Amino acid sequence: MYGTRSLGASFGAEVLDFQLSGTPSEADIAAIRGLWAEHKLLLFRNQSFDEATLVGFSRQFGDLEIHVREEYLSPEHPEILYVSNIERDGRRIGILSDSEVGWHYDQIYLPKPAVGSLLMADTLPPEGGNTEFADMCAAWEALPEATREKLDGCLANQSYEAFNQAYSVPTNNKQKARSPDIHQPIARTHPVTGRKALYLCPGMTTEIVGWDADESAEMLAFLFDWTTKPEFVYSHAWQPGDALMWDNACTMHRRDPFDPAHARLMKRTTILPPAELAVPF
Ligand code: SIN
Repeated sequence: MYGTRSLGASFGAEVLDFQLSGTPSEADIAAIRGLWAEHKLLLFRNQSFDEATLVGFSRQFGDLEIHVREEYLSPEHPEILYVSNIERDGRRIGILSDSEVGWHYDQIYLPKPAVGSLLMADTLPPEGGNTEFADMCAAWEALPEATREKLDGCLANQSYEAFNQAYSVPTNNKQKARSPDIHQPIARTHPVTGRKALYLCPGMTTEIVGWDADESAEMLAFLFDWTTKPEFVYSHAWQPGDALMWDNACTMHRRDPFDPAHARLMKRTTILPPAELAVPF
């Protein structure tokens, strides 16, 4: 129904001639849903839309998460998280500043992790701040069979606290209580395609549950190197009007730093799984 153009990596596609600000029919949404599952990462270029449109479009794909970091939510639309280094009235309006952001899955630390995220470029620096994605289905499938057998059925500890220590600022006590460490399967079955993906990330995964500490550290170091090999990674250089929609059940992402002298503001929604897929593993 909609044409696509490859992003030049082994996954990801630009959707041609689609405006998120239009009034998509059920057939349009079904078509986007199909492309999203097929390509894992969708790029929409030359978009002009406001926050209400971002929320309205995102809602077509599921309920939206209200992010635990409420200090960085849009004042008008709390379903939108600001990612930004901009300060207003003496405080930063967004999460994550201008430094590098390590590889992570959005909300892997919650019992009902997100199935997808939409990120819209509002204000961009002249260079830097590329966002990279790794195809964790391909990374799983390319592992030696013996490694897959060893990992399948194992759990790993996911820590939002570890991520904040490395890349952000501490949460308050209420936020900590909402985001304690949690164990998630290392191989996650995709709720739509049924394909398995490695469900761990350097930014938040601290150990394989029940393994000897050295063995766990050695395996995680191997997997972090493995999943970020160039053949599994796409790097996105943002242009004004870009919006990216990614599959958060089978891709992890990171971001390059950028010059703090320049402002960057990105607006993100995060899509929750539908009730019938609430236990996607
Ligand atoms: C994110 O990790 O959700 C933000 C990525 C970015 O700032 O490009």
